Amino acid sequence: MREPIVSPARRSRATHLMVTQPFKAAPSYAFAADVRAGLSKYPQKELLSKYLYDDVGSALFEVIGLLPEYGLTRADERLLRCHAAELVSRLPGPVVVAELGSGSGKKTRAILEALCRRQNTPYFPIEISRKALAMVQRELGDIDSISIVGFEREYLDGLREVAARRKPSQHLLVLFLGSTIGNFDPPAGAQFLRKVRAELRPGDSLLLGADLEKPIPQLLAAYDDSLGVTAAFNLNLLARINRELDGDFDLRHFRHLAMFNAETCSVEMHIRSMRDQRVAIPAANFSVSFAEGETIWTESCHKYSPQELLALARDTGFRQKAQWIDREWPFAESLWIAD
Ligand SMILES: C[S@@+](CC[C@H](N)C(=O)[O-])C[C@H]1O[C@@H](n2cnc3c(N)ncnc32)[C@H](O)[C@@H]1O
Repeated sequence: MREPIVSPARRSRATHLMVTQPFKAAPSYAFAADVRAGLSKYPQKELLSKYLYDDVGSALFEVIGLLPEYGLTRADERLLRCHAAELVSRLPGPVVVAELGSGSGKKTRAILEALCRRQNTPYFPIEISRKALAMVQRELGDIDSISIVGFEREYLDGLREVAARRKPSQHLLVLFLGSTIGNFDPPAGAQFLRKVRAELRPGDSLLLGADLEKPIPQLLAAYDDSLGVTAAFNLNLLARINRELDGDFDLRHFRHLAMFNAETCSVEMHIRSMRDQRVAIPAANFSVSFAEGETIWTESCHKYSPQELLALARDTGFRQKAQWIDREWPFAESLWIAD
């Protein structure tokens, strides 16, 4: 077990309390096994998108949120800022907040501040990225009446632990923002939300941020920006394999590719091999050949319609209580209550 995450908790204006939370380290053999399995797939090689978020990937993702082409993060943040007070007024208190894949937590500030005006608020960011959890501490540690305990865990493992710790009187608000749900293909997304629902009690809430359908050129620009930050974010996955598994990917012979899959209504990110080549990954006991033009599929981002979200709520054991839509960059923030 590695060193624990140290999360600050500020119980009042006057005191700072340090809370430590032990966590299970993500073993690199799991990364090696997943890389081997994904790159052995035929005809489409793939790598799991969760591995995009090491220290470098999490830092690059923060930059993506600032790019003019990527309106998603700003839309999400606008909605949270504009509707935080109303959202909080719809929740029965006292509330405990668990955020799945919090990233830096920057956008969550509006909700936490609105809640903290009403009560002391326990906030549990659940992240596989240690870097992201460190950012949460910096971004949100100064809010009055908040206690932050970060869990370096997979989504459902973390949620299970949070659900087990809350008191019988406490209502759980789960945040799943940034359209991270879109990284699951729609059937897997529904299955995931059912598992989330299974950890909740009737009356608990889920706030789901989901990106909506929009013109394809706008979507493609968002995932292939002119500065090349998204390309670096994507290619970092190969660099991560080099760093952690002693791989010998030569990044000059691979290119980032974003394309729209009309059948699934998703933007797909791939990495294209620019020549025939063979790559060794000794720590995964593995080597792999690429043909010129062949791709590795690294991420999908499904785009929703408001009707689809409504049906998804019903399908997964929730009732939609409110939905706010950003008009500048079509994006929906949906408040669902567990039935
Ligand atoms: C698309 S980013 C969104 C970050 C933030 N919620 C936002 O809206 O800006 C997805 C986040 O989820 C985390 N993540 C990805 N897969 C995960 C998993 N299986 N369990 C826990 N966290 C995960 C990543 O590290 C990343 O920070």
